[in-house]
Amino acid sequence: MADGVFVTGTGTEVGKTVVAAAIARTLAVEGKRVAVFKPAVTGLDEGVETDHALLRRASGSDQSDEQIAPYRYGPPASPHLAAALAGEEIDPERLRQAAAEAAEGADAIVCEGVGGLLVPLSPAHLVRDLAADLGYPLVVVASPGLGTINHTLLTLESARAAGLEVAAIVLTPWPAEPTEIERSNQETIAALGDTQVLTLPLLDLSDPSSWPPLLPTGLFRSL
Ligand SMILES: Nc1ncnc2c1ncn2[C@@H]1O[C@H](COP(=O)(O)OP(=O)(O)O)[C@@H](O)[C@H]1O
Ligand SMILES: [Mg+2]
Repeated sequence: MADGVFVTGTGTEVGKTVVAAAIARTLAVEGKRVAVFKPAVTGLDEGVETDHALLRRASGSDQSDEQIAPYRYGPPASPHLAAALAGEEIDPERLRQAAAEAAEGADAIVCEGVGGLLVPLSPAHLVRDLAADLGYPLVVVASPGLGTINHTLLTLESARAAGLEVAAIVLTPWPAEPTEIERSNQETIAALGDTQVLTLPLLDLSDPSSWPPLLPTGLFRSL
């Protein structure tokens, strides 16, 4: 079975796609065959590069949109609502199967969640439930600045309450010259969160070949 990671975050727009793409890129540069997976994408109407497109570009994968993200919706809404507006419901079993198929033949699969852990995919199935179904360790993405200690520790508590393993936290985008507050946040989260806290600088998203490597220690056991 392919090694994998589930990239979640303290919320939406915190940098999950960028971190997942950076991990995927790091593995690809090492010569690994990398698959990417995103259970549901919403906000296609907004006309910016989609999460599945950036993940594919960074990983060098040749997966189709459908293989990367089985559920894709136009409105920028929570997935359970976007699905309901389209007259359907996201099926946990279809997600499990799609992730398993994506991982076939790959050395590693990099999955990105949607929003944070307690976002519903369907009325009875949260992102956290999908993370548990897939069984991969989590990487938690968070902002460097004020407010991040609380958001990050709440996310760790929610993960651990469900028995999920947290492999690392990544603060992004990490400034070239971090302030006292940002440095203190990193130390405080590491101390109270009892896990490694990495940082990712501001990347030029148009050019993955310029990105520094990002690979939490011990994340992929067999690679
Ligand atoms: N390290 C980084 N380098 C460049 N842009 C970043 C970085 N971290 C976050 N961003 C920016 O923050 C915004 C949200 O990032 P994104 O990965 O799309 O968030 P999420 O997937 O959590 O919704 C994007 O505009 C993204 O370009
Ligand atoms: Mg994203």
